[in-house]
Amino acid sequence: MKLSVEEKKILQGRKGKAKKKAMEILVALGKIYGAKKLIPVKSVQVAGVSYHNVGEAGLQFLQEMSKAGRVEVLTTLNPAGMDLRDWKKLGITKKFAEKQLQVIEAFKKMGVNASCTCTPYFVGNCPEKGEHIAWSESSAVCFANSILEAYSNRESGMSALAAALVGKTPEYGMHLGRNRKADAVVEVKGKLSEVPDFGALGMFIGKRIGNKIPFIKGIENASVEQLKSLCASIATYGGTEMFFADGASMQSGGKPMERIVVGKRELNECLKELNEKTGIDLIALGCPHCSLDELRKLAELLEGKKVKKEFWVCVSRGVKKAADALSYVKVIEASGAKIAADTCMAVAPLKGRFKGMLTDSAKACYYARGNNNFRTRIASLDECVKEALK
Ligand code: F3S
Repeated sequence: MKLSVEEKKILQGRKGKAKKKAMEILVALGKIYGAKKLIPVKSVQVAGVSYHNVGEAGLQFLQEMSKAGRVEVLTTLNPAGMDLRDWKKLGITKKFAEKQLQVIEAFKKMGVNASCTCTPYFVGNCPEKGEHIAWSESSAVCFANSILEAYSNRESGMSALAAALVGKTPEYGMHLGRNRKADAVVEVKGKLSEVPDFGALGMFIGKRIGNKIPFIKGIENASVEQLKSLCASIATYGGTEMFFADGASMQSGGKPMERIVVGKRELNECLKELNEKTGIDLIALGCPHCSLDELRKLAELLEGKKVKKEFWVCVSRGVKKAADALSYVKVIEASGAKIAADTCMAVAPLKGRFKGMLTDSAKACYYARGNNNFRTRIASLDECVKEALK
């Protein structure tokens, strides 16, 4: 990979130890993927924030890096393992909280914005069409590439942090127009109405095509909430970094494309797989993190009522703040539901605390099973509220 004079200086350690380490990571990645050069990125989003996931080794690495360098571009964080202010109400231990706060402190010392969300595009990290970024949360990467038409590879937590410290990323994969071409056409038959339908659609497509790029026809009227759920599940169950949908400037690679038809039967099979036989002791919404409109809807449904089960509403602190100004937070909390800001049901240390989780997200089901051994059920936001009030 060809490096500029400035980039070589960083690699030699003349801009400090942290940037040297970061440049070593970027150069190694560039070599592996055949990049010819580094390109500047407009923003970075770093995953690997929950102490539950990074552990002591990760914390020590971050503390070392924080002594030696600061980020060069707008950098935001994925959810942490707890609500950074109100962790006690979520049943988080003091020991865990202390460690989690040290992780956040290390990031802050590097100049990172501790927004702690998988929907950075709701809270000020929203790239424009054609901008190059280095994000690591898979659902956000898919949303950025497919909906915002920005350019991002799916970074690891480590490579994203390296990109943040240098302000650049190797030019390969989704950063190159020639790789952003559809491999398959997916025709969606029938109307998809609720968020779980979009999660099921993503699950079906992801399982069927893996990390190829689909052109999805038949979802032209999808809402932001439905699209964020689709992005989350297609990336989780398959690994794709982007899709095209009706209305997008789709390109094919000029080769004949596989044609896949998805109808009610296929979606119902996915929904059946996510709906296990189980009692429910946790209801968790906000995967990816809730939008302001989802909080508005929840406030309407919960007004004047009391929930009878543990109920988490996962959201970024920024969206919570906006919802607070509109009194949604007060209404939701008065019902006994818990606003879990900065965190989510997948990265909080929940193993052993619950047995059966109800959610509206196919991605949340995947992690609830894999990370926490929960059994899962999936239903619309309205149905989740009904279950909570039973
Ligand atoms: Fe976000 Fe956690 Fe889901 S990071 S996409 S809420 S698993």
